[in-house]
Amino acid sequence: MKGVLLAGGTGSRLQPLTTITNKHLLPIYDRTMIQWAIEAVVNAGITEIMVVTGGTHAGEFLRLLGNGNAFGIDRLSYGYQDRPGGIAEALGLAERFVDGDAVLVMLADNVVERSIRPMVDSFMAEPVGARILLSEVNEPEHLRHLGVPVFSPEGKVLRIEEKPDSPASNYAVTGIYCYDSSVFNVITTLKPSGRGELEITDVNNHYIDAGTMTYEVLEGFWGDAGESIDAYYTVNDFVRAHGANNDTAPTTAEHN
Ligand code: G1P
Repeated sequence: MKGVLLAGGTGSRLQPLTTITNKHLLPIYDRTMIQWAIEAVVNAGITEIMVVTGGTHAGEFLRLLGNGNAFGIDRLSYGYQDRPGGIAEALGLAERFVDGDAVLVMLADNVVERSIRPMVDSFMAEPVGARILLSEVNEPEHLRHLGVPVFSPEGKVLRIEEKPDSPASNYAVTGIYCYDSSVFNVITTLKPSGRGELEITDVNNHYIDAGTMTYEVLEGFWGDAGESIDAYYTVNDFVRAHGANNDTAPTTAEHN
């Protein structure tokens, strides 16, 4: 399985900090943001990784990460997105790197308390379609900035709504996804959303419609450090107090 870390975007919600750097290079406690995501992926047993970035600070990733060996990466590739075309478009740039394999995709502003290895192992036991990771979020004001699943009474995900005005559940779709290699074909069928981007939520809704999306619910803390300046500091405070990517406790698996 390959890993793709998505580290592009304009970081508009963290202005003015992101005027002078890429959001994923901002500090979370004692490291840059992207290092926590790299650790999560490497600890899940994936050591062939592509970092996809964009914008005017892309060269700094090479200065920080080099060939990746110091971070436990065996093979590190870089991709460059030359326009703000969305998360799904950025993932599409990794097609040749992934080369027909399964892929773990992580938005590099996501930080997790617990290991994501159980999710990867569950997907690799039957690597078909998509597997997504949900996190319970009880504040509607957060959910309105995220992807939110709509459940059937039996707990099946019927669809995912992106940034809903009225969130249909108390769960967020985290930016951590497993896909089989069909994801690159799915991306070619997408149409730009209202914000002019190819949305990862449309990719996931495709797999829901095809009946090949499973999910599990993450235990422990999850944060999207790019959601807002307050979310950035919530993640900073959490990581400073508790760390991240702790292998001790598993995620809770639920299938549908
Ligand atoms: C993206 C996804 C959203 C997901 C979030 C998690 O949103 O579109 O579904 O909940 O990442 O970090 P963005 O942060 O790019 O607005």
